[in-house]
Amino acid sequence: MDSKNLATAKVHANIAIIKYWGKKEEKLKIPFNSSISFTLDKFYTKTCIIKEKGLTKDVFYLNNVLQDDNETQKISKVLDHFRNKEEFVVVKSSNSMPTAAGLSSSSSGLAALVVAANYTFNTKKSDSELSYLARLGSGSASRSLFGPFAIWKTSDIDHEAIAYPLDCDLDLSMIILILSVQKKEVLSRDGMKHCVETSSLFNTWVEQANRDAITMQKYMKEKDFTNMGKLMEKNTLLMHETTKYANPPFSYLKNATFEAIELVKEIRKNGIEAYFTMDAGPNVKILCQTKDCAALTKKLLEKYPEEKIVVSKGASNYEILPGDQT
Ligand code: PMV
Repeated sequence: MDSKNLATAKVHANIAIIKYWGKKEEKLKIPFNSSISFTLDKFYTKTCIIKEKGLTKDVFYLNNVLQDDNETQKISKVLDHFRNKEEFVVVKSSNSMPTAAGLSSSSSGLAALVVAANYTFNTKKSDSELSYLARLGSGSASRSLFGPFAIWKTSDIDHEAIAYPLDCDLDLSMIILILSVQKKEVLSRDGMKHCVETSSLFNTWVEQANRDAITMQKYMKEKDFTNMGKLMEKNTLLMHETTKYANPPFSYLKNATFEAIELVKEIRKNGIEAYFTMDAGPNVKILCQTKDCAALTKKLLEKYPEEKIVVSKGASNYEILPGDQT
């Protein structure tokens, strides 16, 4: 591809406020429950795809590091939906956040890949189709096409289990408390599969999470931040409870996670509305109203160093930037 035609897809990561946890169809990644997300302005992936003649397979660089066959095959499978056979490319991606540390790098990574592929191969797919194809790469990526809020609906029909933007007329932010940047011990896909197969709490989770997704939409419509925050916490805790009832049990949460949760509760008692959530890792994300960000950050700085605190507004939709900006 002529370098003047190169472009970079910039797509934001999302954090679920109602979690996706468990697939009813493994290969197609159809979720048992609907999930709702908040897209983060500060956390994103930039991806540029370069067509090069003479390649015999795809070449994938993540943060300037050449990836092995296993990682490259994952992206090749997604690219196959956009190109003619044997049209191999160089894919360059960079993450603004640590990779595979429960900071949702896979959500923006796979979504940036489909947006970049749609541009490079000129396939003119709609955002709904892109959400579907991102889902095949990583479930939560289906939600990253839209911001600041998206819902990924469960369905028995493959092509209907895609994400849509959701309206919510509240100005919210999320503060990410980076307690660990180590790669996950249990990948989310393995953790959720283990829970589907062995957790005695799994059916309870699915029923409750589907109800939570409906209730959350009601609170969002009503601009009821207090109930949104409370429900997010409840849903988070139930998701993590499923891991404790798996066989053998496991946990993504560490002592540092529980300390941060206690601090959030204390801050709340003292009058700043803040609510916690955690994903497949120990890091804590705190949902608040943007007007409270400064006061909340000040409180967090009493316990944590500045470099562990990332304040992020909600992000709107993805962008296509000119040239290679990875
Ligand atoms: O899309 P995956 O395979 O990275 O799974 C994401 C799972 C959670 O982050 C725990 C929840 C969610 O909905 O994002």
